[in-house]
Amino acid sequence: MASCARLTLAHWTAAATFLVAATYLAGFPLCSGQLDALRQLRQDVPGDMFLLDRDNKTGNSSKDCLQKSEKLQCPDPDIRFYLYVGTSGEADEINTTDPEWFAQSQFNPDAPTVMLVHGYRGGDSLMPTVVLKNAYIKLGTYNLITVDYGPLVRTPCYVQAVNNLKPVAKCISHMLSYFRLNNVYTEKFTCVGFSLGSHICGLIDNYVTEKLERIIALDPARPLLSNRRDNQKLDPKDAQQVLVFHTNAGFYGQTGWTGTIDFCVNNGAQPYCQKTRRLVRRPSLDEQLCSHAHAVCYMAQSLWKERAQMGEPCANRCPQNNFFDRRGIPVPMGEFTPSYATGTFCVKNEFPPYCLGADETDPTFGDERCCPVYPNKTRKRIGQMLSERRTQRRWKMWNRFEDDYL
Ligand SMILES: *[C@@H]1O[C@H](CO)[C@@H](O)[C@H](O)[C@H]1NC(C)=O
Ligand SMILES: *[C@@H]1O[C@H](CO)[C@@H](O)[C@H](O)[C@H]1NC(C)=O
Ligand SMILES: *[C@@H]1O[C@H](CO)[C@@H](O)[C@H](O)[C@H]1NC(C)=O
Ligand SMILES: *[C@@H]1O[C@H](CO)[C@@H](O)[C@H](O)[C@H]1NC(C)=O
Repeated sequence: MASCARLTLAHWTAAATFLVAATYLAGFPLCSGQLDALRQLRQDVPGDMFLLDRDNKTGNSSKDCLQKSEKLQCPDPDIRFYLYVGTSGEADEINTTDPEWFAQSQFNPDAPTVMLVHGYRGGDSLMPTVVLKNAYIKLGTYNLITVDYGPLVRTPCYVQAVNNLKPVAKCISHMLSYFRLNNVYTEKFTCVGFSLGSHICGLIDNYVTEKLERIIALDPARPLLSNRRDNQKLDPKDAQQVLVFHTNAGFYGQTGWTGTIDFCVNNGAQPYCQKTRRLVRRPSLDEQLCSHAHAVCYMAQSLWKERAQMGEPCANRCPQNNFFDRRGIPVPMGEFTPSYATGTFCVKNEFPPYCLGADETDPTFGDERCCPVYPNKTRKRIGQMLSERRTQRRWKMWNRFEDDYL
């Protein structure tokens, strides 16, 4: 095992772009075929229409990577905050050095406030978090603050990106203190983070005195983070409620129990992302990335209450060795997860969430970028209806529970 890990490490040095993949392989129990897998990864990367269209390998090298220190001065020009209110989709950059900015902004003190934090290679309008940003704007009932720290997480700078998490969290806390001066308190904020962004949501707790009301962690990133101490990554004490989706457990996403409530979705690997499994004997990189990114689509879908996936109580690991449905009181996953629910819940769902065309009664529901397969195949549609019926049954159970006990 040790010699295998070294071999992988040598490879990793040679191909820094594939750091994430190499980290995965270093933890993979089997050694044979690792080189083939790496070659396969190289071939898989350029072609993926779903996510990797902006991963241009002819771009920067590691010497262009930006590394901030925790001693940085906030605000920092590489960490920007944009406010979106209502359905207009018009960005208003938050200017914490301007005492007048808040009063002039459209900030609605009666609406819930959500901070959306992207992950590696992300940005204000980049995949996959842009899907969720657009979903919040479509509903128009939130103050949405997007945190854009794109320059600090450019490819191939994963190591620097991980080291930039604390500086970004520090500048978010600085932005929160500006809101506090204007009588908007940290307890009122929900932080929704994808991948590395989940850990940023958790690290904010290192710099503020009141806890965030809620963190929604969309498949918190695993590579280089799983062995860190609690104050270096997301942990269950970082907010009053820490809600975690696991959609790619053990590869890009963390395994195990990370929040106050964890949802293990399809045992940590999404079936509709499978494309090349049979050819390469193990999931390819783009398949893993598709599973990882779909955490965002599950969250977007959950903003429409009756469409949220339902989770059922199950054993507290993700992935599990023996995955099966346990019967218990189901809870909705995402925006409408009740604050008192804790533990691990399993979600089973065969079809891509928030895929455009998923709902025949509302053709505008969803986003095309959440569809790894075309939604218009009759066979899929029938399957989808069955799957929806199952979800409806779980909702009925939940509503009965709510009526009887709450
Ligand atoms: C990749 O980047 C290079 C230079 O930055 C550019 O010329 C090329 O068009 C890009 N390719 C794609 C597919 O975006
Ligand atoms: C490369 O780095 C420069 C400077 O940091 C930046 O302006 C540019 O956008 C980067 N290009 C890519 C493709 O990330
Ligand atoms: C923020 O406000 C300050 C003070 O009013 C001003 O000098 C600065 O140009 C503003 N920055 C941006 C990005 O608008
Ligand atoms: C299914 O949808 C895709 C993408 O929207 C489209 O290109 C294709 O023609 C459609 N197929 C049928 C049979 O309608």
